[in-house]
Amino acid sequence: MKFFVDTAEVDAIAELNDLGMVDGVTTNPSLIMKSGRDILEVTKEITDLVDGPVSAEVVALKADDMIAEGRKLAKIAENIAVKVPLTWDGLKACNVLTNEGNMVNVTLCFSANQALLAAKAGATFISPFIGRLDDINLDGMQLIADIRQIYDNFEYETEILAASIRSVNHAFEAARIGSDVMTAPPDVIKKMADHPLTDKGLDAFLKDWEKTGQKIL
Ligand code: E4P
Repeated sequence: MKFFVDTAEVDAIAELNDLGMVDGVTTNPSLIMKSGRDILEVTKEITDLVDGPVSAEVVALKADDMIAEGRKLAKIAENIAVKVPLTWDGLKACNVLTNEGNMVNVTLCFSANQALLAAKAGATFISPFIGRLDDINLDGMQLIADIRQIYDNFEYETEILAASIRSVNHAFEAARIGSDVMTAPPDVIKKMADHPLTDKGLDAFLKDWEKTGQKIL
């Protein structure tokens, strides 16, 4: 499974990237706002750091305007994936930008039918938002499972990018169901390393080690 980091904080991306954990990055207008940085500058910095796809989102609502914004964002670097919303205009923009040779991430997906349309429009990635569905008591993971089945039925090449991952359980479930990619905030990725039995076991080993009086270095 590919790991994308869902942030525009360059230091946090760099830390995970140094561990080989980063296959790509996703940003959105809210994350750019949180970073306090200029979108073009910070996106360029991220693309210089990370080899994989870096999603940068358009903010226009009309297809032609999205296409113009997408073309500008795509010029930042070769590894830009233009992010467009899952609206009818967004699908039109997806189709044009894909045919021009760009990677396109179709975002704000909340139904399997939307995901089917995105695949038909040639999306490189479809981003179903798990956490936001769970927020309104719908089953975000079921959506991932449904899209997996539909894409497998017809051998669509669009990659499922599980988004709005809020917990380590989301990460585990998305991997189990067969999501191609997940994008998660840095702290969720780091928390995947935690287990109380690991801490307990380590503590016991170190106590016994101390009793031996030995040193490795
Ligand atoms: C995905 O590309 C989005 O940036 C992100 O996953 C949204 O997550 P949120 O619902 O926690 O804001």
